[in-house]
Amino acid sequence: MALRIPIQAPLLLMGLLTTGLAQLPIAASVSRGFWALPENTTVVEGAAVELQCGVSAPGSTVQWAKDGLLLGPDPRIPSFPRYHLEGDPTRGEFHLHIEACDLSDDAEYECQVGRSETGPELVSPRVLLSVLGMSERPP
Ligand SMILES: *[C@@H]1O[C@H](CO)[C@@H](O)[C@H](O)[C@H]1NC(C)=O
Repeated sequence: MALRIPIQAPLLLMGLLTTGLAQLPIAASVSRGFWALPENTTVVEGAAVELQCGVSAPGSTVQWAKDGLLLGPDPRIPSFPRYHLEGDPTRGEFHLHIEACDLSDDAEYECQVGRSETGPELVSPRVLLSVLGMSERPP
């Protein structure tokens, strides 16, 4: 009798863990949203920067907007040669990478997830990218 308690307790715990883990994929497939958001960022002219966008929304189109202008879903962002999307889209990673920042990149950015069968359009908070020109660079 006394031996049963130490044996059963771990089994019960394992049962709880297994039940909990089994429910995770179901929960992930119904909750649609951002798991990483961009933040207001300051960068020195000439440096690279990355704005985060992590999305849990399978099958949705994700794109960035710069001052309200949509950059399009193509990860190479052909209209902006210094821009591209970084990360693995199958894992919901759509980080905006900007090479060699100049003052034309100083703008407001947001990450947009298109409407799909699983839910409506989602838009991240609008964040400011501030590019410090050479003359403003701290000594
Ligand atoms: C970014 O900065 C603006 C203006 O300073 C502020 O209103 C906003 O709350 C900030 N956003 C984030 C995500 O920190």
